[in-house]
Amino acid sequence: MVILDGKATSDKIKQEIAQMVKEKVANGGKRPHLVAILVGNDGASQTYVSNKERACAQVGFNSTLHRFPAEITQEELINKIVEINHNNDVDGLIVQLPLPDHIDEDAVINAIHPSKDVDGFHPENVGKMTLGLPTFVPATPYGILRLLEEYGVETSGKHCVIIGRSNIVGRPLANLMSLKDNPGNCTVTICHSNTKNIDNYTKQADIIIAALGSPRFLKGDMISEGTVIVDVGITRVADATKKTGYRLEGDVDFDSVAPKASYITPVPGGVGPMTIVSLMVNTLKAAEGK
Ligand code: GUN
Repeated sequence: MVILDGKATSDKIKQEIAQMVKEKVANGGKRPHLVAILVGNDGASQTYVSNKERACAQVGFNSTLHRFPAEITQEELINKIVEINHNNDVDGLIVQLPLPDHIDEDAVINAIHPSKDVDGFHPENVGKMTLGLPTFVPATPYGILRLLEEYGVETSGKHCVIIGRSNIVGRPLANLMSLKDNPGNCTVTICHSNTKNIDNYTKQADIIIAALGSPRFLKGDMISEGTVIVDVGITRVADATKKTGYRLEGDVDFDSVAPKASYITPVPGGVGPMTIVSLMVNTLKAAEGK
C-alpha cells in the first residue's frame, strides 16, 4: 500500500510556483494577486481562507481578504464582486462557500467574471471543463488528478466510483475522470445519498473517490483488494483531547480500508493541501492569461 502524500506533493508544486513568480517579477512582470471574500463566521470557512492566504504568501502572490458580516445583502455582495471584476490588479477572485441562506449562491457565482473565476465554478468555465476545453478546473478535482498523475496511478480503462454529487467535487470529478485524457479515460459511476446498496458499486471499483462528508463512511468490507482510495472528507469531530477541541475525520475508515488499498490518501495531508495548491496554480494561470 502506497500513501498518496498530498502534503509533500503540494510542497513541491508550491516551490515550483514560487520560482516562477520570482522569475516573473524579476523580469518586470506583475505579482499575481488573489482576492478572497468571506461572509459570516463559519469556523471551517475561516480556516480554509486563512490557509489560502498563507499559501499565497508562500508562493509570493499578493492576497486580499474581504470579510463581511452574515447579514450582508446579496446586492451588496454582488456590487463588491463587480468592483473587483473591474480592478485590473486582481487576477483571481474566490467567494468562500457556503454562503448564508438568504444569498443565492448561483447568482453570486454568476457575477464573478469567468476570467477571474479561479475556483472554476462559473457556468461558462464548468461548460468548458465538461467539453475538455482549457479553463480553470475546480481546485479539489484538479488537485486529485494531479496527485494521481504524480504517483503514476493508472486510470485508463478503470472503473472509478465517486461517492458524492456536489458541484464542487463529485460532479466535476465525474466529468474529468470520464474524459479521454490522462488521468481519466475511466468508466465512472456516481453514488450519492439516494443510492441503494452502495457496496455493490464500491466492491466493483478500481478507484474510489469518497466526497460525501460523512466521517469514516467507507469501511474495509465495502471494497476489493487493490483499490485506489481518495478521501476528500474533512469533517470536524469534537475531541476534548485536542487543543482545538476537534479532530479532522475523512470519509474513509483508514484503519480497515488501508490494508486492502493499493494507494490511499491520508486525512489530513492528502487531498486538502492539493486543493490549496491547485488554487495557486489557477491563480498563476489567470495572471498569465492577461
Ligand atoms: N467551500 C468548500 N470548498 C470550496 C472551494 O473550493 N472554493 C470555495 N470558494 N468555497 C469552498
